[in-house]
Amino acid sequence: MIIDKLKYLRGNGNGNLYEGHSKEQSLLQQEFIRIAISRFKPDTIFETGTNKAYFGAFLHEIGFRGTYVTCDPDVDVSYPSIEVLREVAEFGVEYIPDKSSSSNYGFRLELPNGQMMAWIDGDHSYSGALYDLRLFGRYNMPILIDDYGMDSVLNAVFDFLNETNYKLDSVSTDNRQIALLIPKQ
Ligand SMILES: C[S@@+](CC[C@H](N)C(=O)[O-])C[C@H]1O[C@@H](n2cnc3c(N)ncnc32)[C@H](O)[C@@H]1O
Repeated sequence: MIIDKLKYLRGNGNGNLYEGHSKEQSLLQQEFIRIAISRFKPDTIFETGTNKAYFGAFLHEIGFRGTYVTCDPDVDVSYPSIEVLREVAEFGVEYIPDKSSSSNYGFRLELPNGQMMAWIDGDHSYSGALYDLRLFGRYNMPILIDDYGMDSVLNAVFDFLNETNYKLDSVSTDNRQIALLIPKQ
């Protein structure tokens, strides 16, 4: 299975959807993401922080059929994972081997993408999380951000909500916490 293949690849699985968690906590996260995706039905999902592409593998498991665009500066870990995903994925997989800088991701965001959604799970520092929030927030797409339970991420979300038209829609019940942010109507 794809998850087993990914687990054998090099890299630290801490903080990933399928490693570094108890099974019960992982399932809570997966269910929260699955519900958000079925609610907004994105054509394109942008991710920051590919790592072992477990999020992409999860998209495969739930039958996603759009395009998954992901980036990670750690090419040595991410690229082999993306190759494994591409063997099975029935959706578009684009890997941008760099940080989520506007000169890279910004260009991809300008293409026609239909309904977009973001999964932020890259640089968990205050400035890194705020950067990613602003990057996707410009396009008014629903945003899922992982590790809302971390002070750095929580503070970035708080400042992002203060400066934009976004609101906090819901928070997952697992111990790491995913926040779903959506534009106010
Ligand atoms: C927690 S892991 C991602 C887990 C993965 N999204 C999943 O669901 O299994 C965090 C990853 O973010 C990457 N990262 C760090 N800074 C980044 C940045 N500025 N942009 C994108 N990715 C970054 C790290 O190299 C690391 O691989």
